[in-house]
Amino acid sequence: MGAEPLEIHLDDQDVSRALRHDVRVGLIADPRWLPPKWFYDARGSELFDEITRLPEYYPTRAERAVLEVRAVEIAELTGAKTLIELGSGSSEKTRLLLDAFSRRGGLGTFVPLDVSVSALRASTAALAADYPRLRVRGIVGDFTRHLDRLPTGGARLVAFLGGTIGNLLPTERAEFLTRTRAALEAGDWLLIGTDLVKDPAVLVPAYDDAAGVTAEFNRNVLRVLNRELGADFAPEAFAHVALWDPDREWIEMRLRAQRPMRVRVLDLEVDFAAGEDLRTEVSAKFRPEGIAAELTAAGFHPERFWTDPEGRFGVTLARAD
Ligand code: AVJ
Repeated sequence: MGAEPLEIHLDDQDVSRALRHDVRVGLIADPRWLPPKWFYDARGSELFDEITRLPEYYPTRAERAVLEVRAVEIAELTGAKTLIELGSGSSEKTRLLLDAFSRRGGLGTFVPLDVSVSALRASTAALAADYPRLRVRGIVGDFTRHLDRLPTGGARLVAFLGGTIGNLLPTERAEFLTRTRAALEAGDWLLIGTDLVKDPAVLVPAYDDAAGVTAEFNRNVLRVLNRELGADFAPEAFAHVALWDPDREWIEMRLRAQRPMRVRVLDLEVDFAAGEDLRTEVSAKFRPEGIAAELTAAGFHPERFWTDPEGRFGVTLARAD
């Protein structure tokens, strides 16, 4: 059948407007911050794929271990006709679900949604070639903004994998889950991956690897600002920092100015003191009871919760009430 043309809900102008807005708000805030979605230009998406193969970065392998064992059960329990993947990236792990659904029959359409056009073009082409009977409808969109554009009807399963929900702050998370529920009908399903709270001695290296790939990924956001907004950040003058916040139970990535700098971006002049941080990502870690409570509050009924054998990563299958 082949991949259909991408459905674009974010054109270059929307993306550039949103980036300018985030820069205006975040760079003058105290402390300074930028949302993590701006990591993912073509280079950033490649660097993230490289991260998923690093020895220290366990979440991808741990989630894959769960899906390898449970994909058939997920296909059988949900009986989905349409699989929608939010923040799909390369959709690499999703192939485990597609394989299980193809053996069972019945899945007609796969709908990956991502902000990265380059990642979607590559993934939809590869998937359409490897699953010739599947209708592949890629949507360029932002999972916090375009949930009302998801295809309707039929038995739907929304997958939100990789622990990406951890990028949202607690209030954003509640809003996201409520909106996802509103986009679904009773009886539809949500499959959600969450990295679990664990020893910081394991968590921190996952976000500060020895080869420095995560550091490059982090600095990439400054390259995006330089290219897209004509900013004059010196990326190499910022050090990569990964911190575990034990109270909020999240990892924070920051870029720390190594010397005083004045950066020009848009019509702003932003002064960094030596040692000043720019927060670029929050990656929240979860506890099983917390996940169930958040899903329930949003109108889902958690039906299954699985972890990898080492208990590092959780996958929940919940039904829309
Ligand atoms: C894609 C959001 C799940 O938080 O672990 C990896 C992104 N950041 N290394 C994560 C990321 C640094 C990743 N998510």
